[in-house]
Amino acid sequence: MRKRLIVSAAAGALALLLTVPAAAAPGGPGAAGIGDTYYPYAGNGGYNVSHYDIRLKYQPATDQLEGTATILATTTQDLTRFNLDFVLGVQEVLVNGRTAAFASTGESELQITPARPLAKGSPVTVVVRYADKPGEVERGGYSAWLRTPDGGVAANEPESAAWWYPSNDHPTDKATFDVSVLVPDGTQAISNGILTGQSSRAGWTRYNWRQTKPQATYLATLAIGKFDIRTDTTPGGLPVVTAYSKDLGDNDGAARASVERTGELVDWLSTYFGAYPFDSIGGYVPNVPTGYALETQTQIFYSPAQFARGSNTSTVVHELAHQWYGDSVSVQRWSDIWLNEGFARYAQWLWSEHENEGTAQELADYIYSYYPADNAFWTVKPGDPGPDHQFAGAVYDRGAVAVQALRNAVGDEKFFRILKGWPTERRFGNASIPQFQAYAERISGKPLGELFNTWLFTDSKPALSSAGVPAAPAAGAAASALAPSAKAQPQEPKSWKKIQETNSIHDSRH
Ligand code: ARG
Ligand code: ZN
Repeated sequence: MRKRLIVSAAAGALALLLTVPAAAAPGGPGAAGIGDTYYPYAGNGGYNVSHYDIRLKYQPATDQLEGTATILATTTQDLTRFNLDFVLGVQEVLVNGRTAAFASTGESELQITPARPLAKGSPVTVVVRYADKPGEVERGGYSAWLRTPDGGVAANEPESAAWWYPSNDHPTDKATFDVSVLVPDGTQAISNGILTGQSSRAGWTRYNWRQTKPQATYLATLAIGKFDIRTDTTPGGLPVVTAYSKDLGDNDGAARASVERTGELVDWLSTYFGAYPFDSIGGYVPNVPTGYALETQTQIFYSPAQFARGSNTSTVVHELAHQWYGDSVSVQRWSDIWLNEGFARYAQWLWSEHENEGTAQELADYIYSYYPADNAFWTVKPGDPGPDHQFAGAVYDRGAVAVQALRNAVGDEKFFRILKGWPTERRFGNASIPQFQAYAERISGKPLGELFNTWLFTDSKPALSSAGVPAAPAAGAAASALAPSAKAQPQEPKSWKKIQETNSIHDSRH
């Protein structure tokens, strides 16, 4: 039932604009962003995706990618129009089987106008047919498609999905994935989860990958190239899939000696973080020239550079830790990145402790003294670093000092309960730093506002008298590892340089 406010025939067009719906929420275009202040165009309003079915054909010789993405979603409002995040050239869009109008904008938005408006709460099937050369598509001088001599790779954070499939590109909208890729015989295709099948016909081979657990869009990955793919299972029965470019040269041995320990390390991390949340685990090392690694869900992306100075189990531990802290429990907003990087770095410290290469406390002490108060390191707030510093060293290192400060403030027993309880309680969800603080306060029974404020939300070097200073264990230990006179210059822990190699390239393209 609608009520006209103005009924004058002369003002007909205006009258339509002023038509007020009596009951239902107004329909209209869905928002072009999900409301993340760091990335206003990340994600979209008006719907939630439950499943992506992505069928691709890729020719490494020409970089030609052809795709059909079928997206299953449910509307959260009446919609006359909605967006997907995508940068490649689109041929055709269908919504619920009917041809839909579409337009691409400069902000990586694909605007879709269905033939009929969509009602709130209804299931919707979107089919997008596309073709492009992803390596040639840039936004602000950036392309997320890493070309290699034998193919290409999509693995980056916070943005890479738009270079290979259209999506609601924000960690708060997780979905399951089927990725099926046709490549020339002799070339392999890698994506997340389990390789469910592989078949060849007329010179082309199809690889089918399946991720049955909720997965954030930036954690989906695609790699095409000449790989040695290995499948195995852990003693506990978890499938392990690892893959190595046949072109790793001098880094081949160190890469395998690190990534082949994935099953052992995932079991070790489970003792700290609780049951592993997904159905498989693994990692791949393509022949890319980049320096970082990425916690792509169950199929971790490693750059060969991570292994250029020998084996590097520390980085493997970092990316495996993200499977709990980052992938299963994901950020609510990108400003919550400390919940990912602070804990993945801290896992490296636990591994260092386990390997007798320096305790977490020693690493915290070392960082505290390594950066003088006037160093720009302390100007980045790990709890709100801003989009330009999302992957700054402080988010990792000061972020892990914050975790150690929490450990000292609540004591080991409570601390390890928090470390294991959080990913269990929040499994497959999203969470913010204030929610983590509330959880830690609930488990420890201590107010932690001052500690979080000091270590995460202050743009200067915290004083030695600060709450939860790493040197002040709550248990009341007398000796302070950070006593300024005694330990002004702590010794460099053995693991220090290796740990710094993880994501040594903290690029800040955003
Ligand atoms: N989350 C990744 C890691 O620390 C960092 C990715 C940084 N991205 C980049 N382009 N440098 O494991
Ligand atoms: Zn990380």
